[in-house]
Amino acid sequence: MRAPGESVSSCRHHGGTSPRDFLDFSAPLNPLGTPKVIKELIRESVARGDYSKYPDYLYRRLRESIASFYGLESKFVIPLNGGSEALYIITLSLRPDSLAVFEPTFGDHRCLVEALNIELVSIPYVERGGHYEFPMSCLDGLKKASGPNTILLLSNPNNPTGAMLPVKQLTELLDTVGSSAVVIDEAFLELCHSCGSVSALKLARSYENLIVVRSLTKTYSTPGLRIGFLYTENRGFLNAIESSRAPWNINSIAEAVFSEALENHSSELKSFIEVSQAVVREESRYLEHSLKSLGVHVYTSTAPFLLVKHSAPTSEVLKKLCECKVFIRDASTYPYLTQYHARISVRLRDENEVLIRAYEKVVRDGASSRS
Ligand SMILES: Cc1ncc(COP(=O)(O)O)c(C=O)c1O
Repeated sequence: MRAPGESVSSCRHHGGTSPRDFLDFSAPLNPLGTPKVIKELIRESVARGDYSKYPDYLYRRLRESIASFYGLESKFVIPLNGGSEALYIITLSLRPDSLAVFEPTFGDHRCLVEALNIELVSIPYVERGGHYEFPMSCLDGLKKASGPNTILLLSNPNNPTGAMLPVKQLTELLDTVGSSAVVIDEAFLELCHSCGSVSALKLARSYENLIVVRSLTKTYSTPGLRIGFLYTENRGFLNAIESSRAPWNINSIAEAVFSEALENHSSELKSFIEVSQAVVREESRYLEHSLKSLGVHVYTSTAPFLLVKHSAPTSEVLKKLCECKVFIRDASTYPYLTQYHARISVRLRDENEVLIRAYEKVVRDGASSRS
């Protein structure tokens, strides 16, 4: 029997569905896992029985904590139940006539188009040798193609290509495109090893059609607890989004844990993020080098995951990897990708070595990954 939703949308596919005893490279999260301080705060929150109380439906303390951690104005912050809630609430509350997206990208963008029965403007990334490039040359065309009520959605860095748009080009995009709202989803930015000064949060003051989305779920590896926020200085957007928000959208454990962590443990969290970025840099280099030496095509990525292309169908490679209890994300469901693509999340060295040993077996056994 199908779960509700399985039959509804062909675009809803996510990683993180491996059997429990498998090493899961399909869900991109912080390879370091959940930091100690967050685990302790969760234990304390459970011991206090926070779950038996309603959270503050205005999330006053959480807003202040997010604002102070990121250097933002709290009146422009809306805390949310993960980055994904942001994408849904923005689109459902602003009711665009069309959604412009750069693909391949996070599949839920297409789910939104289906849910609202609106037009999709799909602009493909440009594949150039070993990497995917943002299609800057399409911006003028995009301006003409999008109506006055279009939302432009960009994941930066992009999932699954790992492509990152530097701030100069981000500004060019915001200057050129006349869509009613531009949403920059920075779900993976804090884990990127060359994030420099690319955050669009810095641009929110200058562009009143800009909404920036963040996922703390990814940064602190808490996909089961869930937390994120959006930031915009556009009061019209804020009012529309606030009035569509469910009153207790973030549970009281996440509310307590992240209010406390961001407010009173900020230096610990900032060092954790720095170490995470260094681990992502080191381990993606290791994975890239090892996979390439086994003949797998690896695209350049700054994010905590790598897009790869096998010479055999990923379904065959995955079957062999599963024999070693290793799971990766078949990327054939993404628009413009093929049955040969897959996405591999960066994990810690001993885990990455297990993956590489499993790939060596795949090559030995003949579901060859040689290109
Ligand atoms: C680009 C992008 N944005 C948002 C999300 C969801 O983030 P969260 O788990 O915080 O809802 C994902 C999940 O993979 C993603 O790939």
